Amino acid sequence: MNFFHYDIDSLYIEDVPCQSLVEQYGTPLYVYSKNSIIEKVRAYNQAFKTIPHTICYALKANSNPEIVRLMASLGCGADIVSCGELALALQAGFSTNKIVYASVGKTDDEIHAALAAGICAFNVESRQELAVIQEIASSAGKIAPVALRINPDIDIHGHPYISTGKSLNKFGVDINDAPDVLKQAGNMSHISIVGVHAHIGSMIMNPEYYTASLQKLGTLIDALRREGVAIEHVDIGGGLGVNYKSMVPDFADETITPPTPAELATAVLPLVQQLGVELFMEPGRSIVGEAGMLLTRVLYTKETRDRKFVIVDAGMNDLIRPSLYQAYHQIVPLHKTGQPREVVDVVGPICETGDFLAQKRSMPTVERGDFLAVMTAGAYGYSLASNYNLRPRPAEIWVDGTTSEIIRERESID
Ligand code: LLP
Repeated sequence: MNFFHYDIDSLYIEDVPCQSLVEQYGTPLYVYSKNSIIEKVRAYNQAFKTIPHTICYALKANSNPEIVRLMASLGCGADIVSCGELALALQAGFSTNKIVYASVGKTDDEIHAALAAGICAFNVESRQELAVIQEIASSAGKIAPVALRINPDIDIHGHPYISTGKSLNKFGVDINDAPDVLKQAGNMSHISIVGVHAHIGSMIMNPEYYTASLQKLGTLIDALRREGVAIEHVDIGGGLGVNYKSMVPDFADETITPPTPAELATAVLPLVQQLGVELFMEPGRSIVGEAGMLLTRVLYTKETRDRKFVIVDAGMNDLIRPSLYQAYHQIVPLHKTGQPREVVDVVGPICETGDFLAQKRSMPTVERGDFLAVMTAGAYGYSLASNYNLRPRPAEIWVDGTTSEIIRERESID
């Protein structure tokens, strides 16, 4: 189902024209399709309905409290990485037995708080962290549930900043050391091993990488069983890719078809069934990424000897992905004008040359006062936004059919 489309010449999100949103709420503006989010969760549940599974939504992708509450109400669990995310997850109403906690640098306070909350599993990332959790759990008189995060040394062939499953990355315990670390954990009085975990990276476009990772985890689980260690769940992390290039086919230069949850299921279901464990997943981007867009107004256009610039009111402080990962986000006008295309850089107002939303992009010609939609901005958009250059963060709204609602007020200078 397409939640973004042109009706005659105007861009719509669900049944609302985007022009009415910029008039009502101003720009820059994050807009989400609520039904797109619901639809993604439904697709995951449908794909994995034949096995016990828990979708732990990765809060870091988009931690808007309303969106997080929606996830809890849909029966999802939560993948958290900090005390802040723990607090939000508890407030949003997730059952604590569906909260998993990954982070390569959990502080003692964070471990105390997560233990007190009674989360489902600490995804432990090192031998030393394991010892610290044992010590804290012992002093608190609690048993800490632990899933060991394995680094399976798998290259997902993505951007190096968001690849996490190679041996040179800081994450997890080397697959070769895992049996020994787990044996050590088995002897700890206040640790209970409940699962194994691997998150090999983000924006994965080929489900076979999950198969490869799961095969390695499966070999480990079998070996543990032979030693009498029962593993209850396997957590394959998040990372499923999304469509950054052709959400609105009308202006797409290239058509992208990212893997669906059903294709992910085809890649992992047989192995999980064979292992006879519960499956945990931690999707973030593939739930909220395509649901969101960033609406922005053209402030100026200008031409230099080398380039034509379209200067808009959203910058790297609002959406840092193009600057940080050279990420491509499709950018489309709110109105089709039949204007000829030209090649431009779409840049923000921030005082950095790295402040751009697109470079050398062929787009319909725009003028001061026109509006643009930066597509697929629902994940790692607002959650990575900052006040750099002392710019207030944008408002966030969501659309449900014909209605729109503010889900976070625009920040003010005050
Ligand atoms: N689980 C763990 C342990 C993670 O570290 C992450 C993301 C996820 C799950 C969710 O991954 P997802 O399904 O969203 O791909 N800022 C970057 C992405 C960083 C991902 C960090 N970890 C970006 O904008 O591309």
